[in-house]
Amino acid sequence: MTTALITGASSGIGAVYARRLAVRGHNLVLVARATDRLNSLASELRDAHGISVEVITADLTDTSQLELVLQRLHAEPSIDILVNNAGAALVGDFASADPAKMETLLSLNVVAPTLLASAVLDSMVARGNGAIINIASVLALLPEYSRGIYAATKAYVLTLSQSLAAEVSAKGVYVQAVLPAATRTEIYERAGGDISKVPDVMEVEALVDAALVGFDRRELVTIPPVPDAAAWEAFEHARGVLALGFSNSEPAARYRSSV
Ligand SMILES: NC(=O)c1ccc[n+]([C@@H]2O[C@H](COP(=O)([O-])OP(=O)(O)OC[C@H]3O[C@@H](n4cnc5c(N)ncnc54)[C@H](OP(=O)(O)O)[C@@H]3O)[C@@H](O)[C@H]2O)c1
Repeated sequence: MTTALITGASSGIGAVYARRLAVRGHNLVLVARATDRLNSLASELRDAHGISVEVITADLTDTSQLELVLQRLHAEPSIDILVNNAGAALVGDFASADPAKMETLLSLNVVAPTLLASAVLDSMVARGNGAIINIASVLALLPEYSRGIYAATKAYVLTLSQSLAAEVSAKGVYVQAVLPAATRTEIYERAGGDISKVPDVMEVEALVDAALVGFDRRELVTIPPVPDAAAWEAFEHARGVLALGFSNSEPAARYRSSV
């Protein structure tokens, strides 16, 4: 049996990952702040699937509590699948954002998944297998649609996933970035928003099931609501065309004149 560690498993996308990975027979380590919710999910999944489920209560924005989770990642049994899911949003624009709240969001959405991935990577590479699932957002590709720093945190998660995959996929470690669009979870209400004002909301079970289809196909980037895979391929092709220009040692002709 393999072991999956899921952050943010107490609700929403993370709780559905826990249920789905339990059905697949993985032992689980569930991480979040709400101990009661984690314990209740853990006992349900132990009873239903005969798997082992550990619970770690941790606020991932707190350095010493994050350290506890990092220690678990280094311990035995080793982690085969890391689901970097815990995250939050901040409503409101950048100009009026509270710097302390922005720093907390960066700790949760950027620093924690980075250090957690770092903690599992060495042993995954040494074993020649393992998987890291990073929950980003379609806003990583659509920053103008969202105010404040949330989209930037998710662009970081996408870029980290792409860069990590380039580094470790040949060493047997699979990295997936999942980009949900609006999905029915608690994230809106927690951030002071109102999900009833959001059009075209995907149900959370549908989102995770689709993401797991992408996982089984070993996709690097999975965007469940996009109907045509060719749209993503065209986007990646355009990126490749743009990159052809990065290796010139001289500025492009249009920048050699001030008019
Ligand atoms: N729902 C969407 O529309 C949507 C769209 C794109 C991307 N996403 C991404 O999906 C991921 C999961 O969010 P969700 O939509 O499922 O929202 P959610 O229902 O609010 O779940 C967030 C999870 O993160 C945990 N969490 C929050 N703050 C934490 C902290 N300081 N330390 C540890 N755990 C913390 C929460 O548990 P506790 O409160 O118990 O700690 C909860 O389990 C996030 O990364 C989010 O950015 C969501």
